[in-house]
Amino acid sequence: MLRASARLVAEGNRRAPMERIVYRHDGFTPESEARISLFDRGFLFGDAVYEVTAALDGRLIDEDLHLERLERSLSELEIPMPLPRAEIAGIQAELVARNGLKEGVVYLHVSRGAADRDFIWSEDLKPLLIGFTQTKIVRDSPSQREGIAVDLAPDPRWARRDVKTAMLLGQALAKRAARRRGFQEVWLVEEGEITEGASSTAWIVTREGRIVTRGNSWAVLPGCTRRAVLRLCAEQGLSFEERAFSPEEAQAAAEAFVTSATSFVTPVVRIGDEILGDGRPGPTTRRLQALYLEAVSKPEAAPA
Ligand code: PDD
Repeated sequence: MLRASARLVAEGNRRAPMERIVYRHDGFTPESEARISLFDRGFLFGDAVYEVTAALDGRLIDEDLHLERLERSLSELEIPMPLPRAEIAGIQAELVARNGLKEGVVYLHVSRGAADRDFIWSEDLKPLLIGFTQTKIVRDSPSQREGIAVDLAPDPRWARRDVKTAMLLGQALAKRAARRRGFQEVWLVEEGEITEGASSTAWIVTREGRIVTRGNSWAVLPGCTRRAVLRLCAEQGLSFEERAFSPEEAQAAAEAFVTSATSFVTPVVRIGDEILGDGRPGPTTRRLQALYLEAVSKPEAAPA
């Protein structure tokens, strides 16, 4: 099958050759032709949820976990599912195929719909589903090989961080400030404890070798990669704990890492001014990284 971009060239299409095919509510369309309403509540109120699922060798990783969380986020906000789960999975598969995506992500976004601006929405709004692909290195990135430095900053977000809403300005500002200070990610702190990374789950490995990540609650997004990695820990008999930890405990830890759909298991080698251990990714992190990679590289994909 021709890649979508090659196909456009072959057809002598007036569209730019690198144009993606995106999904916009009831059909696939070149990105330059996709339109949404000015009155969309996702645009005006941030009234929308999203999912980011990695694609590796053209397969979606932990797809069921992401679709389950999408359904939960929507239900928490009382937005109806725009389509049954299986149909959304079909759209994701078609986005991957139509764009010839080998390695990268599929982004899905559901807004409550469009109506005249009003804080109170009417119950009959039709949710808007959009989806697109992005090429990205998700396996064996320099960050995964060498590890990253994470900054520490106050958590600026609203109280319902368990819902994956498109209101990401707090995270975007925190990440930009961290980037300017030379860090690749930022761990957000509330009441003396780390909640999570701006776009990843935070983990430490204590000097006693226990793997620690915060328990799920309204304070954090229930990470899909977190869930898959915890399952691997249980299967492998690795000792782990779900509890909050402070910046000081993290800075004194033997190892640290982050997980997310786009970074898999990425070592953390510095937290704020503290270099962890010898400044290189630790053995437990390396083991989890290898286990996760092995699990998602199987043709049947994904440890659910
Ligand atoms: N973010 N916590 C936050 C705040 C996140 O935004 C993410 C993911 C995670 C990890 O969740 P998961 O393992 O399900 O990807 C934790 C995605 C990658 C993003 O916004 O691009």
